Amino acid sequence: MKRALITGITGQDGPYLARLLLSKGYKVYGTYRRTSSPNFWRLQHLGILKKITLIPADLSDMSSLLEAVTVSNPDEIYNLAAQSFVGASFDQPLHTTEIDASGATRFLEIIRHLNKNIKFYQASTSELFGGAKECPQDERTPMMPNSPYAAAKLHAYHMTKIYRHSYGIFTCNGILFNHESPLRGLEFVTRKITNSVAKIKLGLQKELVLGNLDAKRDWGYAGDFVKMMWMMMQHDKPDDFVIATGETYSVGEFAEEAFKVVGLDWKKYVKSDQKLHRPMEVHQLCGDARKARDVLGWEAEIKFKELVKMMVESDLRLWKKFTSGENFPWDAPSFPHGMDVIARNVTRDAKREAAAIGGKKLAGKKKKSTWKKLLKG
Ligand code: NAP
Ligand code: GDD
Repeated sequence: MKRALITGITGQDGPYLARLLLSKGYKVYGTYRRTSSPNFWRLQHLGILKKITLIPADLSDMSSLLEAVTVSNPDEIYNLAAQSFVGASFDQPLHTTEIDASGATRFLEIIRHLNKNIKFYQASTSELFGGAKECPQDERTPMMPNSPYAAAKLHAYHMTKIYRHSYGIFTCNGILFNHESPLRGLEFVTRKITNSVAKIKLGLQKELVLGNLDAKRDWGYAGDFVKMMWMMMQHDKPDDFVIATGETYSVGEFAEEAFKVVGLDWKKYVKSDQKLHRPMEVHQLCGDARKARDVLGWEAEIKFKELVKMMVESDLRLWKKFTSGENFPWDAPSFPHGMDVIARNVTRDAKREAAAIGGKKLAGKKKKSTWKKLLKG
């Protein structure tokens, strides 16, 4: 049975990837970080929370990452964890660098020292092309980051390549263009729009205030894009791939389409506020994923209109449930019954613990336990 470690499993992409890997027979481990209100609702939403094993780890904390790799003993690491909000990276550039740049290097160092056979996937991004003059962008387009987020991701992108070429480690960069879903975080523009459209339709909100309506993005569906993460890790050689739909639409066009789904005219509800514009904008992204198609046979299945409809309808369902007295999924109870969580504990024997969950080879190298497997609930 193959074993995978997914960082950032509580985010949008993590649960879709975990579900895919489970369907392929993987043993799936995921890292989550300690928060005052645990957010496992996406994993619950896809019905996979109890099928995976969770390990607490923070990308800023080397020892927690080392332990996560040791205890999960993975064949493949998918590094999805990040401070992923471009806007916030202008407010917290150092934190963003620490997590998005150095976080990836920490994993590469662990692999180099512990086991060079572990394959590594880095969640790279179309933001790397930020100020590119060319459109569409592909793997050969010069990278011109336009935000602290993109600059940090560019560092991780290069380190991923450097470890491939210097040490022969199987490392891949998935250069993913924007991908969305009903599980998208509410601060990203697509979900902000679809959530507001649902509320406006149900009379729970009056208007929608956005920033730059003219920015253009190549928006795909997260469920399609995670397939490509796995496909590039199964390829006979490590490589970097652009993943995109090849179509680009403006924020205004996304809003127009979303309001259309519920039969409303977007112009009556949407306002643009200069305060929501970014210090430096990425004006247009559109990907050319020809290499992914030709080499790996991947193509985006869900395109713009279908994606918008899926997201609006999902938010409508949620808000209708709310108005009839049901909780939101993000109100899920902390540590729901039956979760498989591995937590730190200094009293147990590491070898036995890791062997019990399949980490024989690496556990043998450790003397003292720092792990205890807890079955919560
Ligand atoms: P997301 O929804 O924002 O999820 C990010 C994940 O990272 C969450 O699980 C988050 O944990 C975790 N995380 C944040 N800081 C961490 C830290 N210090 N230590 C450990 N974990 C931490 O992002 P996503 O949309 O799933 O994207 C996945 C990856 O792909 C990210 O690296 C993103 O930058 C990249 N990417 C995304 C897109 C896109 O359009 N979605 C496109 C290109 C690249 P919490 O849940 O606790 O916050
Ligand atoms: N978030 C947000 N909120 N963005 C807005 C708003 C608003 O109210 N109004 C306009 N926008 C514009 C932003 O200025 C940006 O040009 C565009 O909408 C998309 O913003 P986001 O949805 O926040 O996504 P992003 O493109 O900046 O970043 C996402 O995609 C990247 C890949 O290209 C994130 O998922 C990144 O992690 C990812 O790397």
